Amino acid sequence: MITGFDNAELRTERLTLRRPVADDVVAVHEIHRDPLACAHNPSDALRTPEEAAGLLERWLEHWRGFGFGYWVVRPRDAGRTLGFCGVKLTDIDGRRGLNLFYRFDPAAWGRGIASEAAREVVRWARATLPALPVVARVRPANTASQRVAVNAGLTRADHLDRPGEDGPDLLFAAGWAPSPPVKGPFAR
Ligand SMILES: CC(C)(COP(=O)(O)OP(=O)(O)OC[C@H]1O[C@@H](n2cnc3c(N)ncnc32)[C@H](O)[C@@H]1OP(=O)(O)O)[C@@H](O)C(=O)NCCC(=O)NCCS
Repeated sequence: MITGFDNAELRTERLTLRRPVADDVVAVHEIHRDPLACAHNPSDALRTPEEAAGLLERWLEHWRGFGFGYWVVRPRDAGRTLGFCGVKLTDIDGRRGLNLFYRFDPAAWGRGIASEAAREVVRWARATLPALPVVARVRPANTASQRVAVNAGLTRADHLDRPGEDGPDLLFAAGWAPSPPVKGPFAR
């Protein structure tokens, strides 16, 4: 277990990002049962409160195990949950990294909220866990999500593209160091 992160609450100009609690199951269910919010990733859609409880438990387990995960995103001046944004550990091409996630209530879309939250999460991840590259897997038609990844500081990493749960995923990355220099007879 990794402890001691200063991440109980992150803040941006308009938003607070806090660690999830059991009561967040209602918002997890509301957002993940909205067909719009899962249009590009139907495998993430949830039908029942039990499925939402299962998903939230996996998020909480990651927090308990590693001290970070997906945050609950709210306006600074109100208690309404806008969505979720965070990172979890992943393995990609044999390398440990952080998978960037964001999903927001469609009522909150189009105001730069996702970009603002994702920028703060990526800032936190790069500052706190600099050895771990941040990656985002995005469906090709999900232009808004691709823009959010770029706004958060990730760049297109087509060498990492791969099949995902719902079809091919385009990869975006930050901190994915270039290959080490070639030494020996093949060096230029
Ligand atoms: C993707 C998502 C997080 C974007 O949220 P948002 O708060 O509307 O995003 P922002 O307002 O920060 O907009 C980011 C960019 O996308 C653009 N955008 C927003 N909606 C768009 C759309 N439907 N089509 C094309 N571009 C769009 C914005 O104009 C903005 O562009 P800019 O960077 O040039 O200014 C939101 O649509 C969502 O939750 N979708 C469902 C979940 C999802 O797909 N998650 C990603 C899985 S990989």
